[in-house]
Amino acid sequence: MATVDTAALQEMAMKHLWLHFTQMAGFDPAKHPVMVRGDNIFLEDSNGNRYMDFLSGLFTVQIGYSHGEEIGTAMLEQAMELPYYTNWTYSHPKAIELATKLAEITPDSINRAFFVSGGSEGVEGAIKLARDYHNAGGEPMRRKVIARKIAYHGTTYGALSLTGITSIRAPFEPLMAGVRHVEPTNPYRCKYCADQGGCNLKCADEVAEVIEFEDPSTVSMVIMEPVQNAGGCFTPHPEYHQRVNEICKEYGVLHAADETICGYGRLGEWYGSQRYEYEPDIITCAKGLTSGYQPMGAVLFGDKIADRLIETEHMFLHGITFGGHPIVAAAALKNLEIMEREGVLENVKQNEPYLRDQLFGLMERHEIIGDVRGAGYFWAMELVKDRATKETFNEDECNVLLRDFLSPTLLSEGLLCRADDRGDPAIQISPPLITTRDQIDEAIAVFDKVLPQAQDLMLKLRR
Ligand SMILES: Cc1ncc(COP(=O)(O)O)c(C=O)c1O
Repeated sequence: MATVDTAALQEMAMKHLWLHFTQMAGFDPAKHPVMVRGDNIFLEDSNGNRYMDFLSGLFTVQIGYSHGEEIGTAMLEQAMELPYYTNWTYSHPKAIELATKLAEITPDSINRAFFVSGGSEGVEGAIKLARDYHNAGGEPMRRKVIARKIAYHGTTYGALSLTGITSIRAPFEPLMAGVRHVEPTNPYRCKYCADQGGCNLKCADEVAEVIEFEDPSTVSMVIMEPVQNAGGCFTPHPEYHQRVNEICKEYGVLHAADETICGYGRLGEWYGSQRYEYEPDIITCAKGLTSGYQPMGAVLFGDKIADRLIETEHMFLHGITFGGHPIVAAAALKNLEIMEREGVLENVKQNEPYLRDQLFGLMERHEIIGDVRGAGYFWAMELVKDRATKETFNEDECNVLLRDFLSPTLLSEGLLCRADDRGDPAIQISPPLITTRDQIDEAIAVFDKVLPQAQDLMLKLRR
């Protein structure tokens, strides 16, 4: 294996590489791990430190890191045959095969794929597709989109406009007009039901109220993740998405599921919408579609939309040069084949109760955990100052707890996960879908070691 000059790489990173969502002022190259290789669910940095990757890269590497040769071979074969061709006007076998495969695993009514290069582009495509569906239906006033507070839908302008995280929206305003944000499903802190002993679906009713208020003839689409990532894995009441789906149908609004994270097995089914038993009109997806071995996203959509565009001879004026790239499509097809062959969805289904029990066990042992929530291999532990009152940490305390202590300490203990406060502070885990019970135990042992230290630190801070 090639040796790596860590110091030189870190220095070059500091000088030339602008990291995403990273404070580059005061960037300390020595504290900047450079990942050089991966296997199974592990990563190794240039100093030879190993990490258990309980974030799947970025909610992406469903099959883990050991399939480079197999996926790479499929890509090489494709590269030797046809290294690039477009999906503008013409097509090529791999995009066709992938679209066909996706039609097989999506809900029955979804049979069309428009390929893009990632999650944000998928959301952009959905915004435009929904508008054009209404244009073709003679309702060009339907422009508005309803999304949820705290939800993350990407960083490009349209996607950022749907994103409901004030701190990352505000610096770039004005954004796309006509976006309204409703409450997410967060039973722990929901303004409608946190003190009612359970979800009363008022959060779903709010969607209808906003549509009514805006005038239904101006509303194009409702977009939501099956389980909302930002804020810490907000799981819905089992009937929430079905109710939103009914509301959308009632008002002629399209229902989109942003499955950028929930898709491809994260919740134990191909799509999160299947787990919650609703059929959206549009699914946006990316990440797990290729397990991150190549960049790809897709807007998957229903016959309802395709039929209208075809019947009205309406051309969808949208295109992306690399959308459906043959080498990337080859990687996606191989990834889906590996997922099926290795029973990845079954692994998640079998181990979900075990993972859940271990996380609830952590909550029993550590007062700092106020709530545990999630589904499949997608969980969050919300951290609180006081479990009885649910009092949360203020901004300064969050900085100490998450950024100064938890992130570096978990990393130094060899565990990659996310300590985040885009909503209330939470630790999120989202391991590769091949993760075993033994590996879950290993991660839990790290939390058992680190969480008491976090608790002590916060108590000291208060004194
Ligand atoms: C739900 C959701 N939508 C969209 C995106 C944007 O995806 P990308 O970073 O590939 O543009 C993300 C990224 O994490 C996401 O979680």
